[in-house]
Amino acid sequence: MNDDRITQVKQANDIADVVGGYLSLRPAGPTFKGLCPFHEDKHPSFDVDPRRQRYRCWSCGKVGDVISFVMEMDKISFREALEILARRAGITLQEDPEAEAKANERSHLLKVSQWAHDQYRGALEDRNLGEQAWFYLEKRGLEDETIRLFSVGYAPANGTWLLERARRAGISLDILDKLGILGRSARDGSWYDRFRDRVMFPIRNTRSQTVGFGGRVLPGTLGEEKGPKYYNSPDSAIFFKSEELFGLDLAKNDASRSGQLVVMEGYTDVMMAHQFGIRQAVATMGTALNSRHIRTLKRFVPKVTLLYDSDAGGKGGVQRALEIFAASDIDLRVATLPEGLDPCDLLVSKGQGALEKILASAEDAIDHALKVEFANAEQMTVQQKQQGVDRVLGILARVPALEDDSGTLKLDLILNRMQRRLGLSLPTLKNRLQMLRQTQVALEGRRHSERIGGGTNTDGPEVDQEGGSLMASGPLSRARTLGRPEERELLQLLLAGPEWVPMVDGSIHPEEIAQPDLRKIFEACLEIHRSGRPARADLVRQILDDLGLVGLVLTLQEIGEGTAPDQREAWLRSLLERFAERRVRPLQQKLKQQLLSTNDHDEALEILRRLKVSKSTASPASGGDPV
Ligand code: UTP
Ligand code: MN
Repeated sequence: MNDDRITQVKQANDIADVVGGYLSLRPAGPTFKGLCPFHEDKHPSFDVDPRRQRYRCWSCGKVGDVISFVMEMDKISFREALEILARRAGITLQEDPEAEAKANERSHLLKVSQWAHDQYRGALEDRNLGEQAWFYLEKRGLEDETIRLFSVGYAPANGTWLLERARRAGISLDILDKLGILGRSARDGSWYDRFRDRVMFPIRNTRSQTVGFGGRVLPGTLGEEKGPKYYNSPDSAIFFKSEELFGLDLAKNDASRSGQLVVMEGYTDVMMAHQFGIRQAVATMGTALNSRHIRTLKRFVPKVTLLYDSDAGGKGGVQRALEIFAASDIDLRVATLPEGLDPCDLLVSKGQGALEKILASAEDAIDHALKVEFANAEQMTVQQKQQGVDRVLGILARVPALEDDSGTLKLDLILNRMQRRLGLSLPTLKNRLQMLRQTQVALEGRRHSERIGGGTNTDGPEVDQEGGSLMASGPLSRARTLGRPEERELLQLLLAGPEWVPMVDGSIHPEEIAQPDLRKIFEACLEIHRSGRPARADLVRQILDDLGLVGLVLTLQEIGEGTAPDQREAWLRSLLERFAERRVRPLQQKLKQQLLSTNDHDEALEILRRLKVSKSTASPASGGDPV
């Protein structure tokens, strides 16, 4: 998307008009005031400023522009928000034929997918045709109302049921093929239904569009012996299994209000939870929870509880989820079900109270890891304990939120608990953690340089070396306090004056920015510059496509704009010098220490000489070598 288009869309949509469509605003001098939609607001602390086209909540610290407002309110991506605003202003966005073709294909796939969904739902409505499916659903305890709410369907058994309907309705068989609904025989090219004699759980995206299906085999049928219990739609241009969460469209409003979601394992679990009034339940689709799911979840809530069957998924699943969560700024808890019961069965047999009790007893992710790791500490050998300690500390070493003040307390608590459980001394544990952290930093450094070199995005965890908790405070104060001064000033300058990015590219290496958020923004600036465009703040935030960072980007830019354009070159020069100094500082410190500790006069002279040299050669970093 080109940057002029973004500007055009922003100019055509006055922020006060757009926000006014979502909440009631009243004029207050040159600005407008209202109740903040992003937190429980009792007094109007939400300010909309038409002059600067920004909003700001004085209470919760949310800051942004018209695009981020729509993104946040509708829980949609930058691209989608831009499209909505463009449509609102009567602007056509797709001038690029390739993008247009893609959008067309997407809307085609969505339509066909909806068509198929309607057929399956119709088949279940037909009590004769869907008799066995009803039998299964009722046996699990699902009520009509729930079945309708989730729009469950049934795929008949004969193997060409949907195919024939598609032919009659003139639906493209190729598209049904792309959606994984129809298949084609390799032998004679004949078409067939991929879902046969299965209960069809539609998977809907957050905008409630049907993007895929999970088809469960009916008990006591031929399919049960031959096929998998569940056949899920393959990934397509509209369906990404590892991003989508079943039930999120129905859960999202309650979740935003309560601030938390519960992740379960199965379709029926989520449905039954709803039936019992627990509406913040979602499920992954046969895949382990991964960092993309987390990104989706983070758009809605700061807190997630994993509710896993005690048998299925097992230690491995919980462990992996832990690692990802430990590295992200989400409050994760883990609740474990009694053996042999899934949430669906538990609700049916023991009622809502039983599940709520389990959810309430969910433990902190790290506590949970300790329990899993040292379940039978008494029988473990020294070596086994050591390995367990390393695995847990390895997770802690990656937890950014644990490095701020409140985190230190928590960390001490956990280390204390390990100490008691395992009889290891506290200093030993702390030293080991420190070592693992350093390894982690080195590893991260390598991963970052790989990322820059290969241009691929990894889902690796982050280490906040500056100790700033990612959730600490609003963008306003963050833009003034985040990271080291020279790091945040660099971004203030670059976001206010993208014309300086070329001067910095090659002089300052992203790895020199220790604060992860600032580094991400810096990397985005470089990426845009290297693709031959000016790294304007609007493009930067588009590339990041991370609502958590939009406020920061805009605020950094605003602060940078406070320095007059004719003074920016001097500012940049001083920043380059400060980075250069930083580079030689460790060497200088080492030399000074050697100087203090040596008794040999000649050696002292040599050290003094090297100290001098190092000062005069404090020059910008060369090329891609990490410093
Ligand atoms: P379950 O085996 O618990 O499913 O799998 P269920 O529907 O509750 O089955 P019953 O009725 O208790 O026997 C939980 C989830 O795991 C995924 C599906 O997403 C399912 O909802 N799954 C399971 C698959 O993707 N494929 C499979 O073969 C089995
Ligand atoms: Mn189950």
